[in-house]
Amino acid sequence: MSVLDTVGLKLMRLFDAETAHGLAIAALKSGVAGAQPSHADPALQVQAFGLTFPNPIGLAAGFDKDAEVPDAILRLGFGFAEVGTVTPLAQSGNPQPRMFRLSADRAVINRLGFNNQGHDAALARLQARPQSGIVGVNIGANKDSSDKIADYELGVKTFANLASYLTVNVSSPNTPGLRGLQDRDALEELLERVLAARAQADTQPPVVLKIAPDLDDEALEDIAEVVLGAGIDGVIVSNTTISRPPLKSPERSEQGGLSGAPLFELSTHILAKFYLATEGKVPLIGVGGVDSGSAAWEKLRAGASLVQIYSGMVYEGPGLARNIGQHLSRQLKRSGYDTLSAVTGTGAKEWAKA
Ligand SMILES: Cc1cc2nc3c(=O)[nH]c(=O)nc-3n(C[C@H](O)[C@H](O)[C@H](O)COP(=O)(O)O)c2cc1C
Repeated sequence: MSVLDTVGLKLMRLFDAETAHGLAIAALKSGVAGAQPSHADPALQVQAFGLTFPNPIGLAAGFDKDAEVPDAILRLGFGFAEVGTVTPLAQSGNPQPRMFRLSADRAVINRLGFNNQGHDAALARLQARPQSGIVGVNIGANKDSSDKIADYELGVKTFANLASYLTVNVSSPNTPGLRGLQDRDALEELLERVLAARAQADTQPPVVLKIAPDLDDEALEDIAEVVLGAGIDGVIVSNTTISRPPLKSPERSEQGGLSGAPLFELSTHILAKFYLATEGKVPLIGVGGVDSGSAAWEKLRAGASLVQIYSGMVYEGPGLARNIGQHLSRQLKRSGYDTLSAVTGTGAKEWAKA
């Protein structure tokens, strides 16, 4: 970690988690956060759902909810950035405090509840940016929406022309009823309507589904079947967990979704199971507790083609993507594999048992 990153992280600790997040966005907007050169090792390129990713490390949804800084994020060495979750109408989310650092556990609990400025604000920003780099848009439903699936259809319609890919997020634990869309019948209807909306759009970006880590074997098998049947392009595993593995921090009993280091084992296990259930036919994005190059490597081994991070940056700072890239380059050379894609799934059976 650079001296600047260390000082920056110490300063951030002086603020509550949500204020610190606001400051990080402001710093990225102003350029103070320091542009790192993009990791240029061609061996790290990954082809997935028709896109060529310069490296497999992406920023997970929830950091740049309103598409304020996707280009600054790409300049930090990320291979792609996912903005959102955006909902059709602006909404303020749950009352504060609603985001907690669990420093002793290198974790975060949040119950933000899709606070965002709505489709129009994100759309205007995405229209104004240069159309380069891979920027996905994560779409969701308003809390008070009576037809949640219609909100996703609107998301597809609104962002199809501008998003490198679209993420259908049905796994946030902080919007009542949302995760019910992962149930077999609801998911079938959702994906059918989302893909129909995409077919009607002028351009057809890849559509990926983001699932929770709190799914039993039956639910995972159901989702795998629906995903394969519907023909969507990829799946992100996973969102935050409502479970509570043993934690040391006093904030451990706060309600909301847990992310960061304590999510790593669970989300990687579910990733591997899902990889096996879909027989490696669908590209997967592995998310949950990645805070180092070796953790990213394990996600690939468990079945991921790409990796995303959020909480790791809270503890490791803005240089994390670049550091992971450097680690993956070295590890790939040592491993004897020619490409990162060749690593995908090589440890899936092991991780599925873990
Ligand atoms: C503060 C916070 C806000 C989040 N907001 C969203 C969101 O709006 N949409 C979404 O799909 N995931 C959201 N997530 C989940 C992350 O994208 C990611 O799936 C999860 O945090 C696990 O990765 P991590 O352990 O690297 O943080 C959020 C996570 C955090 C910590």
